Amino acid sequence: MRVAVVGATGRIGRLTVVALERRGHETVGISRTQGVDVHTGEGLVMALTGVDAVVDACSCSATDRDEAVAFFTGSTRNLLEAERQTGVQHHVLVSIAGVTRVTGNAHYAGKRAQEELVERGPVPWSIVPATHFHDFAEMVTTWTERDGSATIAPLLVQPVAPADVADVLAEVAIGEPQGRCPDLAGPEPQDLVDLARRTRAARGTSIRLVPTWSGVFGLDMAGDVLLAGPNARIAPTTFDEWLAGETPS
Ligand SMILES: NC(=O)c1ccc[n+]([C@@H]2O[C@H](COP(=O)([O-])OP(=O)(O)OC[C@H]3O[C@@H](n4cnc5c(N)ncnc54)[C@H](OP(=O)(O)O)[C@@H]3O)[C@@H](O)[C@H]2O)c1
Repeated sequence: MRVAVVGATGRIGRLTVVALERRGHETVGISRTQGVDVHTGEGLVMALTGVDAVVDACSCSATDRDEAVAFFTGSTRNLLEAERQTGVQHHVLVSIAGVTRVTGNAHYAGKRAQEELVERGPVPWSIVPATHFHDFAEMVTTWTERDGSATIAPLLVQPVAPADVADVLAEVAIGEPQGRCPDLAGPEPQDLVDLARRTRAARGTSIRLVPTWSGVFGLDMAGDVLLAGPNARIAPTTFDEWLAGETPS
């Protein structure tokens, strides 16, 4: 099959390209650095010509709710319209487990609006809701790091290896459209502050971590809301295996 990966230079997109090519499929990488912009639509129809399935692993870093919603809805409308024009048969979206349970976060609002467009769109679809990736804790510390300290919310998460997510996206993309798939999660619930501390120590970049609910993540993300839902698909790679470099990241 010929499968386009949107966000092919990103964390999950590039691993999805690898997973698809390992299975013998042809891939088309879509990102601004590869000359295609899903937000403006530039180059999209040409890139999707002859493509059977699309995996959307695009992202944006907006922390403003309107900006995040505008990015995810604008890019998804462009993508679905280009897929309709070119006869793409399957649209696969990587989303976030618990996206309907968290109301205050800008990124989640954008992903919710994106899911609704995909569900109502003209192209047969699958949505894969994944929990946070194993590198999420480290990424969060870089947002606020200053003078050897960073703030971080004490979230309860069930992180999954990026390579395991990419494997599932490749498997779903080459199969029949499934609608909403079960949550995809890692094997163990974890505390985000602890994950951040262990990751930074393993990298030799330890900092002082200050737990707080006053940053990007609010109290609507406390409790069990970010953990895998019922009947979740549990991916095999533990956080410790990932940290030890036993899978690609
Ligand atoms: N991180 C997590 O823990 C997590 C958990 C569950 C689900 N997810 C979801 O997984 C998806 C991928 O996340 P990620 O962390 O892998 O993203 P990422 O590393 O930030 O990569 C984003 C990708 O999107 C591309 N992109 C951004 N704007 C674009 C545009 N206008 N046109 C074309 N390409 C564009 C980027 O390439 P260019 O900059 O070259 O354009 C890059 O390839 C997101 O939708 C996120 O919500 C993430």
